[in-house]
Amino acid sequence: MTEMHPHLKEILFDEATIQAKVAEMAAEISRDYAGKKVLVVGILTGAVMFAVDLLKRLTIDVELDFMDVSSYGASLSSSGEVRILKDLSSAAEGREILIVEDIIDTGNTLVYLKRILNERLARSVKIAALLDKPAGRKVEIEADYVGFVVPDAFIVGYGIDYAQRYRQLPYIGIFNTDFMIKEEQNE
Ligand code: PRP
Repeated sequence: MTEMHPHLKEILFDEATIQAKVAEMAAEISRDYAGKKVLVVGILTGAVMFAVDLLKRLTIDVELDFMDVSSYGASLSSSGEVRILKDLSSAAEGREILIVEDIIDTGNTLVYLKRILNERLARSVKIAALLDKPAGRKVEIEADYVGFVVPDAFIVGYGIDYAQRYRQLPYIGIFNTDFMIKEEQNE
């Protein structure tokens, strides 16, 4: 049994469950894109683990690139603003693009990414999201491939952080907010 980090209250998906789901998603994606060359775009930083594990299992011809966008800033709730912190290294025009995300919450990040990649004349833009949190949604967006639907809880692990911590956990769980870093009091 997986030993849980003491700052978590519950494990939702252990390592084996995640890896089995990623393999299932990779098989479906490989079938759908058979004969095509895909530009896989991992969204930093949270999607790194998922992007790498998914990539290892894709049997199609792929290129890997990353984008870094910020939607949350330091706060816990999304502001709706999205900024590009690191852009693609490759041109999007004419490419079959698969955006790889760790989680869809408000949907702001993916709505923005889909819009700009379409504006850049990508041939197609699809989304693979390991986690979907429908309760967080503020704008309408659906992923083409979803791993797990998660409850409206504070999710960490397998790339997903709280205050940049817990990304290294090989499983996904619910953060115990008793361990939240207290804001410094400004007099
Ligand atoms: C998180 C997550 C998604 C996005 C989802 O990233 O990794 O990219 O927020 O939220 P949304 O649907 O409300 O837009 P974050 O900006 O926290 O950066 P990180 O991946 O570097 O932790």
